[in-house]
Amino acid sequence: MKKLFALLAMASLAQAATAADPVGNPKDAAEKKIAMCIGCHAIPGYKATFPEVYQVPLIGGQSAKYIESALKAYQKGDRKHPSMRGIAGSLTDQDIADLAAYYSQQK
Ligand code: HEC
Repeated sequence: MKKLFALLAMASLAQAATAADPVGNPKDAAEKKIAMCIGCHAIPGYKATFPEVYQVPLIGGQSAKYIESALKAYQKGDRKHPSMRGIAGSLTDQDIADLAAYYSQQK
């Protein structure tokens, strides 16, 4: 968990310097940001153990709109999962656009 928070902190520092229009960039920008997602989302069949054993959904190949609206729902609290709420809360609109663009292009 400590590592995750360090990553999150670095990601938001880097972000502060580059705020721009949220047009998704699935290349360089997203590849740095997915570092904080792959630990949970890239492992087929992975189950998160906090707060309870939970199947982590695979998000690669979902539509960008779906990923974006899911992340915004975690940010607003419309979706309740605590780990995802913490993560989404640390993302800017630009991060969300980049991540959505990246994952929607994954097979
Ligand atoms: C600590 C583990 C963990 C990390 C790290 C994590 N997620 Fe998640 N994510 C989950 C779990 C568990 C769920 C399912 C929660 C639920 O049902 O509400 C989820 C759900 C989602 C969903 C909704 C999927 C769906 O099918 O509805 C999206 C989109 C998502 N995560 C994106 C991301 C992105 C982007 C990142 C990186 C910025 C990330 N997640 C990092 C554990 C994680």
